[in-house]
Amino acid sequence: MFRDKACGEVRESDIGSNLTLSGWVFRRRDHGGLIFVDLRDRNGLVQVVFSPDVSEEAHGLAHGLRAEYVISVRGKVLKRPEGTENPVMPTGAIELYAEDIKVLNESAALPFGLEEEAGEALRFKYRYLDLRKPEIQKNLILRHRAVKTIRDYLDEQGFLEIETPMLTKSTPEGARDYLVPSRLNPGHFYALPQSPQLFKQILMAAGLEKYFQIVKCFRDEDLRADRQPEFTQVDIEMSFIDEEDIIGLIEGMMKKLFKEAMGIELDIPFQRLNFKESMERFGNDKPDMRFGLELKEMADLAGRGSFKVFLDALGSGGRVKAINGKGMAGLSRKEIDTLTEEVKALGAKGLAWIKVKGVAASFESPIAKFFPEDALKEMALRLEAEDGDLMLFVADTEKTVLDVLGRLRLELGKRLNLIKPGYKFLWVTDYPLFEWDDEEGRFAAMHHPFTSPADEDIGKMLPENISDRDGILGLKAKAYDIVLNGSEIGGGSIRIHRRDVQRKMFELLGIKEDEARVKFGFLLDALQFGAPPHGGLALGLDRLLMIMAGASSIRDVIAFPKTSKAVCLMSGAPSVVDEKQLRELHLKLDVIPEDAQ
Ligand code: AMO
Ligand code: AMP
Repeated sequence: MFRDKACGEVRESDIGSNLTLSGWVFRRRDHGGLIFVDLRDRNGLVQVVFSPDVSEEAHGLAHGLRAEYVISVRGKVLKRPEGTENPVMPTGAIELYAEDIKVLNESAALPFGLEEEAGEALRFKYRYLDLRKPEIQKNLILRHRAVKTIRDYLDEQGFLEIETPMLTKSTPEGARDYLVPSRLNPGHFYALPQSPQLFKQILMAAGLEKYFQIVKCFRDEDLRADRQPEFTQVDIEMSFIDEEDIIGLIEGMMKKLFKEAMGIELDIPFQRLNFKESMERFGNDKPDMRFGLELKEMADLAGRGSFKVFLDALGSGGRVKAINGKGMAGLSRKEIDTLTEEVKALGAKGLAWIKVKGVAASFESPIAKFFPEDALKEMALRLEAEDGDLMLFVADTEKTVLDVLGRLRLELGKRLNLIKPGYKFLWVTDYPLFEWDDEEGRFAAMHHPFTSPADEDIGKMLPENISDRDGILGLKAKAYDIVLNGSEIGGGSIRIHRRDVQRKMFELLGIKEDEARVKFGFLLDALQFGAPPHGGLALGLDRLLMIMAGASSIRDVIAFPKTSKAVCLMSGAPSVVDEKQLRELHLKLDVIPEDAQ
C-alpha cells in the first residue's frame, strides 16, 4: 500500500496515528541531527522529519534524497513543537516522524528548480516538470472543475453532447486550415475543423434541438498570448430560439460556473453595448469595462479652431477624438514626445495635447493658440479634465482614430492603475452583417456567412437592387459577442435558415453558386428540408479560463500548449516524416526541411 492519505490532507486530527504517505521530495533541509523533507503530491505539502532517534536506517537513507525523488514514508503524526507551526500551510500544525522510508524512484538532476522562474524554452521542453508546480496544477484543476460545471449545467438545460468529425471540410471562420492528406483518395485532403459550425447547424436541421460539445478547434493563424493553433470551444446550438435565449443561457452558465469553480457571485444580466457605441466610446468591440477613460467626440470643437491637422482630417472625411490622461499634466516635453512616438507606432500621424492647469483651468499646449477659449473650456468639460490632466487628441481616418485611441486607452488604464479588480462581462450586440475587406476588395462577413441579418434588414437585403455600398454596410446582423475584462471570450449568432437568404448572402460575399455548392453544398441541401430557426454561440474555453485563473497567457491553462511558432517543444511536433509515408500519401515536397538529414 502506497498511502493512507494524500500529503496535503494530513491534519491535527491525525496526531498520534501511524500513516504511510507517498510523493515527491520538494525540499530537503539538514538541521544538525534532523533532516526535514517537504513531501509533495497533487494535494499539497507535508513536513516529514527524519531523526536518528526514531530510525537510524530511515535517517541514513534520507541523507541520499534529492529533489524530485519519489518516496514512500511511514511514520507517526506529531504536533509541531511550539513556534515551528506554519499557519499558511494546511498541514502546518503537524509533521510526520519517519520510521521507515522506501525510495520508489530516483530523479536525475533537474534542468530547472520547481521554485525558480525558468525560461519558456526549458519550461515547455520539460513540460511534465513544469506541470509539477502547484500553481500550474491549480489551473488544470480549475479547468476540470469548470468543464464539469458547464457539462452539468447544459445537461440540466436539456442539451445533448454530440461529437462532430475532426476529419472534415473547411469551415469558414477566417483562418487558414490545417490539412490532412487522404491516403485512400489521392490528391484529396481533409481539413481539421476551425469550428463545428456547419455540423452543428445540420444537427439543428436534423431535429436535435439543443446541442453542445466541448471541442477542439484548429486554426492556422498568427499566434499571440490569447491564441493557440488548437484550442477548445464550448460550442452550443439551439432551435426555436432568439438572441435573448442564448444570452440568458450563457449568463446562467457563467453565474453557475463562477459560483462553483471560484465561489464568486456574479451579477446577471450582464451589461450590453451595441457595436457602434462600443467602437465610439472604447475604440473597439471588446472593451475592458473595469475602467472608464472613454473616447470623446471632438469634431465639433476641433472645427471651431484653426489647427490645420484637425481641419485637414475633418475635411477629408476623417475624425477627431480625444481621451483624458488623468493627472498626466506633469509630463515633461520629452515624456510627451516619447508618448507621441508610441502612438505613432500604433499607426497615428501624431498626438496633439493640451495640459489643463489651475482651478480656473488655463491651457498649456502648442496648439492652444489655435482655439478660442470657450472651445478649450468645452473640450475640458467634455473630457472631464481638471487641473493636472492632459487632454490627448488624435485626428485621422475613423479606423485609425478609434484603433489608436482604443489602444492608448488600454495602455493608460494600465499605467495609471485605473483597472479595478473583478470580472466585468459585457455583451456586444447589433454588429454589422458585412465589413469591407480592403485587401480582397470585397465584402466579408463580419461574423460568418451563416449569420442572419436583423429581421428588419432581410427585406432590404433580398431585392435585386441592393448594390450600394453604404446600404450593404448598413445591414445589421443578429450576432453577439461576449467580452470579459477586455477579452473576447465568445461569439455567436442567429443563423440563416432560409435558402433564399443564404443564397443572397453568398452572392453579396462574392461566392459563386458553384463555389457555394462545392464548399457548403451539404449545409445548403440540409436547409431546404425544413430547417428550423436556430442559433448558437461558442465560448473560447482557454481564454475564459486564462482570465479566471488570472494567468497572463493561454498556455498556462493548457496542459501541452504550443509556442508562438506552433511548435510543441516537448514532443517536437511538427516533425519531418520519411519518404515512405509521403509516398503512401501521394505527396512530394518542394522544400527540404532544415532538420532533414
Ligand atoms: P469564433 O470564431 O468567434 O466563433 O470563435 C469563438 C471563440 O473561440 C475563441 N477563439 C480562440 N481561442 C484560442 N485560440 C484561438 N486561435 C481562437 N480562435 C477563437 C474566442 C472566440 O470568441 N462557429 C463560431 C461560433 C458560433 O457562431 O456559434 C465561432 O467559431 O474566444
Ligand atoms: P505639427 O504641426 O506636425 O508639428 O504637429 C503639431 C502637433 O500635432 C504635434 O504634437 C503632433 O504630434 C500633433 N499631430 C500631428 N498630426 C496629428 C494627428 N493626425 N492627430 C493628432 N495630433 C497630431
